[in-house]
Amino acid sequence: MTSASFNESINVKTLFNSDFLGRTERLARDIVRDMGGQHIVALCVLKGGYKFFADLMDFIKTLNQNSDKSVPLTVDFIRLKSYSNDQSTNSVKVIGGDELSALTGKNVLIVEDIVETGRTMETLLKLLNECHPKMVKVVSLLVKRTPRSSGYRPDYIGFEVPDKFLVGYALDYNEYFRDLSVSVLFCSVLTELCALHNLEYIECNCQFLFV
Ligand code: IMP
Ligand code: MG
Repeated sequence: MTSASFNESINVKTLFNSDFLGRTERLARDIVRDMGGQHIVALCVLKGGYKFFADLMDFIKTLNQNSDKSVPLTVDFIRLKSYSNDQSTNSVKVIGGDELSALTGKNVLIVEDIVETGRTMETLLKLLNECHPKMVKVVSLLVKRTPRSSGYRPDYIGFEVPDKFLVGYALDYNEYFRDLSVSVLFCSVLTELCALHNLEYIECNCQFLFV
C-alpha cells in the first residue's frame, strides 16, 4: 500500500463509517419532503443499485408509518449495462426489467448506485422521457469526482467519492465482490481474487473497497 492510497483509504474509512445508513435515511427524508403526498414509483437500476434501493425503501416505509401523510410507494426494476471490466463503455444497454411504458404519467424516483461519466443516467432519462412520466427525480448513493463526467448531476446524492473503481454493497467488478462486506476472512479471499484479476487492492474497514 502506498502512502497516497493509505491516506485515501483513511478518508474513505471516515466517510463510510461515519454514518452510512444515516445518510440514506436523510436522503429518504428529503425525497419524502419533495415528492411526498403523491404516488411514487421507485425504479431500481439493477444490479448495482439493489442494496441501496432496499435500504432506502425501508427508510421511506418507516417514514410513511410514522407520518399522518403517507406516500403510496410501488417499485419497478430495470437492468442496464454500461461497464466492461472496470471501464465505462460508450454504449448503455437496457438488458431487462419492467417496461418503461408503465411509467407514463407517474412520479418516478430512479435509484442508482453510482454515477461516473453520467452516460448511463442520461441514456435512461432520455428513454424514460419518451414515455412521458409526470415527474422524474434521480437519487444516486455515490457520485464519482472524475474528469470523464459529462457534467450530469443527480437530484439527490449520498456521497461524492474519488475517481477510483469501487466494489461492495452490490457494486461489482465483473460480477465479483457484490456481496462484499469486509471481514478478515473475506479479505484474504479477496487478496487472491484481486491477484487473479491483476487488481490492486486497498483494505479498509468500510462498506467499500477501492480496487
Ligand atoms: P456511468 O454511465 O459512467 O455514469 O456509469 C454508471 C454505471 O457504471 C453505474 O450504474 C455502475 O453500474 C457502473 N459503475 C461506475 N463506476 C463504478 C464503480 O466504481 N464500481 C462499480 N460499478 C461502477
Ligand atoms: Mg448502476
